[in-house]
Amino acid sequence: MEKDKIMEYWDHRSSEYHREYADKMDEEMEIWRSIFSGILPGGERIRAVEVGTGPGILAISLASMGHNVTGVDLSEKMLERAAENARAKKVDILLKKGDAENIPLDDGKYDLILSKYLLWTLPDPDRYMNECNRLLKSGGLMVIIDGSWFQNRDGTDKKSRHTRFDEFYGDIKPNLPMAKHNTPERIKVLAESHGFGEVSWSFLDDYDAFLERNDPEGHAAGYIQPPHMVVAKKTEA
Ligand SMILES: C[S@@+](CC[C@H](N)C(=O)[O-])C[C@H]1O[C@@H](n2cnc3c(N)ncnc32)[C@H](O)[C@@H]1O
Repeated sequence: MEKDKIMEYWDHRSSEYHREYADKMDEEMEIWRSIFSGILPGGERIRAVEVGTGPGILAISLASMGHNVTGVDLSEKMLERAAENARAKKVDILLKKGDAENIPLDDGKYDLILSKYLLWTLPDPDRYMNECNRLLKSGGLMVIIDGSWFQNRDGTDKKSRHTRFDEFYGDIKPNLPMAKHNTPERIKVLAESHGFGEVSWSFLDDYDAFLERNDPEGHAAGYIQPPHMVVAKKTEA
């Protein structure tokens, strides 16, 4: 039931989500390519999955580096946007409708499982981490990008800027374990509790600067700190 509501919300948001950055997609892709170059082994063509791909920017950026990429999302309308963007950037990505907590892909075939702004909206982040573990090859990387979306600087809860958000998520959000206090430290502890090793994290300052440059009132005014990225390795079995 909650998943149906979450899907309906993102179907509804799909047409305008991230549109404010649409004409800056090349600039954004360049930032992601630089971030990925910093964490991926050089020279190898990898198999990657972006879960909760939305408009597909990260999947498309990875594919533009020559990697084999699958994008998964609950929302078919978001997948349509990802397909449009992939066509516009002339890259091939495989797109699949599916749930992050039950991903319709095979065990042990992937070098990288990536998600951006997904963890906070999962009812059961433990199941997601189990799924990442299942899909990854030994030594593969789980990369989680997320942010402190719902806190004010003083730690109090922030009001949403979208009325529709409250309408759809109002009853669900209190039951989402990573919606509140979505910190890199907490994600690190969660990853370690699922057997991931070599866990590190950083704030994505260059991406944050990109967001602020292109939407000063929205992003800069909206969030208390830059998005964070946690990188964790599936340890040898
Ligand atoms: C905040 S958007 C982020 C989209 C994209 N990753 C980005 O950063 O531009 C969250 C995305 O996760 C998807 N999503 C939410 N819950 C999901 C789930 N359980 N499984 C797969 N996708 C999910 C939504 O449909 C939406 O596309």
